[in-house]
Amino acid sequence: MSEATIIDGKAFAEGLRGRIGTEVARIKADHDLTPGLAVVLVGEDPASQVYVRNKGKQTLEAGMNSFEHKLDADTPEESLLSLIDTLNKDSSVNGILVQLPLPGHINEAKVLASIAPAKDVDGFHLINVGKLTTGDKSAMVPCTPLGCIMMLKEHLGDLKGKRAMVLGRSNIVGKPMAALLLAEHCTVTIAHSRTQDLAEECARADILIAAVGRDRMVKGDWVKPGAVVIDVGINRIDAPEKGEGKTRLVGDVDFDSAAKVAGAITPVPGGVGPMTIACLLRNTVVAACLQKGVDLPQI
Ligand code: GUN
Repeated sequence: MSEATIIDGKAFAEGLRGRIGTEVARIKADHDLTPGLAVVLVGEDPASQVYVRNKGKQTLEAGMNSFEHKLDADTPEESLLSLIDTLNKDSSVNGILVQLPLPGHINEAKVLASIAPAKDVDGFHLINVGKLTTGDKSAMVPCTPLGCIMMLKEHLGDLKGKRAMVLGRSNIVGKPMAALLLAEHCTVTIAHSRTQDLAEECARADILIAAVGRDRMVKGDWVKPGAVVIDVGINRIDAPEKGEGKTRLVGDVDFDSAAKVAGAITPVPGGVGPMTIACLLRNTVVAACLQKGVDLPQI
């Protein structure tokens, strides 16, 4: 029996999507504006196909316009850049997301740099990275770290002075996560594969964010008693107990041992994952309002 409070990301995301839907209806009625999100998928990676389908479905459910562009895996970089140019100029498109990873022949950095910063609802353009790290409030903030911060604030209230450990230094999660925690006045450490005494470092943290992509790496004795643990990992492992050839999802945290020590913890699935798409919808609404000079909704 676990002792930690389970942070229910699925319920939180449902609530957030409900508030977004209400704001979308209000913006439509008051300003004749329907936010639109374009999602671009190159190739047929099965996990990416699932994400893109879910993004499209939830965009429509929130009352927004969804534009899906599916390109063949061998699409030339030039064609992708040309599509992005068209989307940049299309006033019905307020947000653009190019699903990562891209096929090897396409230069990811070049593609991300080609998205208009104001429509960059992923927050991956260097302009938005710079705005986030310098504290500019008009930054588009990457969705997964934004979802983590929302859940942390909901659970802990003020994060000021907390010791936060971010395990992982990716551009998508680790680095923006650290920037957001710093903006909340946490004392932030970023750990990675070369960090010495990793378990001891983690065990000093009041807030532990695991985003390394390593199946159940963080054990219970890496967790400070009472700490809040946010598990960003989504790792698919074999699950012979469910039948031959079956698999299941686990996080970067060994949930069973960590939940005995933590004060609160996010599960996998049902923790961070659902928040990411909800935050994408939120960013799209915010982007639409900023582009059209409409007051920002408080969501
Ligand atoms: N692939 C995995 N996560 C993400 C994300 O947050 N945004 C995009 N564009 N691609 C991803």
